[in-house]
Amino acid sequence: MLDWLFFQLAAFWSSFRNTFGKQSYIYMTEQSPKVFEKHVFVCVSGKTCPQEGACEVFDALRKEIFERGLKSKIRINKSGCFDQCGNGPLIVVYPDQVWYAKVQIDDLKEIVEEHLLKDRPVERLFYDGSGRKACTR
Ligand code: FES
Repeated sequence: MLDWLFFQLAAFWSSFRNTFGKQSYIYMTEQSPKVFEKHVFVCVSGKTCPQEGACEVFDALRKEIFERGLKSKIRINKSGCFDQCGNGPLIVVYPDQVWYAKVQIDDLKEIVEEHLLKDRPVERLFYDGSGRKACTR
């Protein structure tokens, strides 16, 4: 009897979660306003990125976006540590979830022109995920 009751409760909970969880997810993805076309985060305050030139890259990227009149479409934000130290300056671009590593100021025009404006990510700067160990020291 107890097994049957437990099974009924589990089935009800699963059904409830699937029904209302999915509706909530659909609402968030289809109804949410698109505030910016691209949202770019630059790690500027962790253990290593600031020493690797991240603040200068952040300033230069923000200036580039401002001078091109893209401020209302592309948002550049400072970020804390991505927990991927040692590969900075690190940049993440959403909604594409593209990570760039060791970005230099000279790379920014290409990132803006190719990725942010034409949706063609710059593969030569892709992050390989190797910074995880540096953060856990
Ligand atoms: S300092 Fe930039 S990822 Fe940790």
